Order: sequence, then structure tokens, then C-alpha cells
Amino acid sequence: MSTNEDLIGRADLHDIEAILAIATEEGESNLRAVRDHAPAIFTWDYEKGARPALNKLYEKAKHSQWNGETDLPWDTAVDPMQLVELQRQAFGMTPETRAAKVAGTPFAKWGDKEFDQMGLESNNWMLSQFMHGEQGALICTAKIVETVPWIDAKYYAATQVMDEARHVEVFARYLDTKLDGHYPLNAHLGLLLDDIIADSRWDMTYLGMQIMVEGLALAAFGLMHMTTPEPLLKQLLRYVMSDEARHVAFGVLTLKEYYQELSLAEIRERQEFAFEAAVRMRDRLLQQEVLARMGLDVKEAVKFVMEDEGRQMFQQLLFSKIVPNCKKLGLLDAGDGWLRTRFQELGVIQFEDLTDTSDEYEAFALGPAELSESTIS
Ligand SMILES: [Fe+2]
Ligand SMILES: [Fe+2]
Repeated sequence: MSTNEDLIGRADLHDIEAILAIATEEGESNLRAVRDHAPAIFTWDYEKGARPALNKLYEKAKHSQWNGETDLPWDTAVDPMQLVELQRQAFGMTPETRAAKVAGTPFAKWGDKEFDQMGLESNNWMLSQFMHGEQGALICTAKIVETVPWIDAKYYAATQVMDEARHVEVFARYLDTKLDGHYPLNAHLGLLLDDIIADSRWDMTYLGMQIMVEGLALAAFGLMHMTTPEPLLKQLLRYVMSDEARHVAFGVLTLKEYYQELSLAEIRERQEFAFEAAVRMRDRLLQQEVLARMGLDVKEAVKFVMEDEGRQMFQQLLFSKIVPNCKKLGLLDAGDGWLRTRFQELGVIQFEDLTDTSDEYEAFALGPAELSESTIS
């Protein structure tokens, strides 16, 4: 059986030095090449609807396309600093509560200027990671079109490829025209995307992307949608979420069927992959690149960030879709319940009985009034 060292490269989940040792290299080229080891599969079984749930999802997707150019109010004026201020108000943060919180930490000597800059950097970082993650989804789903052996799944995945192109487009446009700076791909997210793309087994793409990365994205977009006061970003997230819910459902519906065929040893490999992905995504949320750019002692700052209660709660909430979906797939308790124990260690098991996403996508769907006439017809 694999050890923590095998799976995540360190024995202790919370080893800060090992986490920080994985960092984005400066001066990386404008392109990233990852070798894909999966065979491209043709199928001669063209029977549409042999898998009714996937067929339903495909038909739904055809009627749910929106246009990133014309359906969002791009003429909305966004002041990045005002956005930071409004976010603080939404979270009830005042200079006094902030001062009490950071006493005795590397942030204690900061004034308004530094906190303002950190707020701006943090938004640039977050939206940049969303944009890079969306490109990861674009590439992974194109890979699914090639590698999945079922025609209904190839059809559905083709619609998801279009959705992801639109998502990359709108996040890139928001960053370029409304905020004021990009960040490169976070190294932890990069490791995870590389693993998903490189794996030769077609179902691992679904587990890594549709269940783990998109499950986390759906929760993250939901939290941001609920708390952002900025109308353009709010609507952008609402539209993206309506697609993401379908994508996660695609993962759950496909893997639910496929996992029936697997042996316990094969399921264990899936449990281990889900754990590795969860750790990579948690590590990425520490925003080490922002802390470094702000000139802080990153190790000391990360210690504070990891122990901050508000942050821990936020981080746990991001797993609120992943855990019930893993349970629905049977991954939590298969074998000796290995993944349940690991999710307990990560502090996220409490979400296991929330609604899974296999049909929750209906609740996220856009109404006719939200889709432009040209899109519907
Ligand atoms: Fe997406
Ligand atoms: Fe997606």
C-alpha cells in the first residue's frame, strides 16, 4: 500500500517546509508541455441514449449554451480597490478586528497600505488560479473526448469542451479589463493537473478533474457568488456555476457506473488519487505566491494562515461538494474505509451527507430569461 511519501511527497500532511518547497519557478516559458499516456479510443457502438442519464445531460447542455461576449454586462465599471473594501465589509472586517487578529504575527507591523495591497494581490491571485484551472478543465475534457469508450460520454464531453473555452475566455477578460495583474499557475495545482493529464487510465481524468478540481471550483464559485458585491463578477460566476454543476454531475454519473466493474485493489488506487488531489488543492489555497510578493517571511506567514480559524472554515467549505460525491461513488468506505480516515485528517468529513451533485445540476440551471434570445434559438 502506498505511503504519504509515495502519494504526496511528505510524511506529515502539515509539513510547511515541504509544502513551500513546491513553488512556481521564475522565468517559466509561456507554454507548458505535459505528456499524455492515454490511448485515443474509437467506438463503433453509435447507439445514442444507451446511457440515458448521460444523454439527458447532453441534451440539457445543448440548450444551456451562453455567450461570454454578449450575455455578461462588460460595461460595468469595476474599481479593484473598492472591490477589496466591499469584500471587507461583507466579511465584517474592521481595522480593529484585523489588528486583534494579526497581533504577534508577521502581519502585525502592517498598516492600511499593505493590507490594501494584499487585498488587491489576493483577488488577482484567486481569479488567475480560476483562469488556469479552467484551461486545465478545457484540456482534460478534450482528453476525455478522446479516451472515454462510450459514445454518450464523448458527446457530452464535447459540449463541456465548449463550456470550458467560454470559462477561460470570461475569466481572462475579467482579469485583463477589470483587475490589475496576473499570477502564474500555482505549483500545487500544476502538479495535480500534470498527474491528471499524464495518467493512462481514462477514468482518472474524471476523478481528478470532474470530481476533485471541479467539485472544489463549484463550491468556491458558490462562496464567491454569495459574498461578492460586484455585479459583473456575480453574474459571471452564476453563469459559470450553471455549467460546472453539469460537469460535476457528468463525473458522478460516469464513474458510478464504471466503478461497479473495478476490483477493490483498483478502487484503492482511486481512493489514493482522490486523497492526493485533495491535499494538492488544500496546499494551493495557502496563497504562498501572494505572501512572497508582499515581502513576508513566507514560512512564518503560512503558519499563521494555516492556524487562522476563519480561513480553516472557508477551506473546509470548499470540500462541501467533493465529500458527498466521493461518498456517492463508494470511495469513502470501500475496502477498509481508507479515504474516510484521510478526509477525517483533513477535517472535511462532516460534509459527507450533504446533497451530491448527480442531479443537483437542475437546480443550478439558468432560466430562459438569463439566456439571450440568440442563444436559445
Ligand atoms: Fe469551467
Ligand atoms: Fe467545468
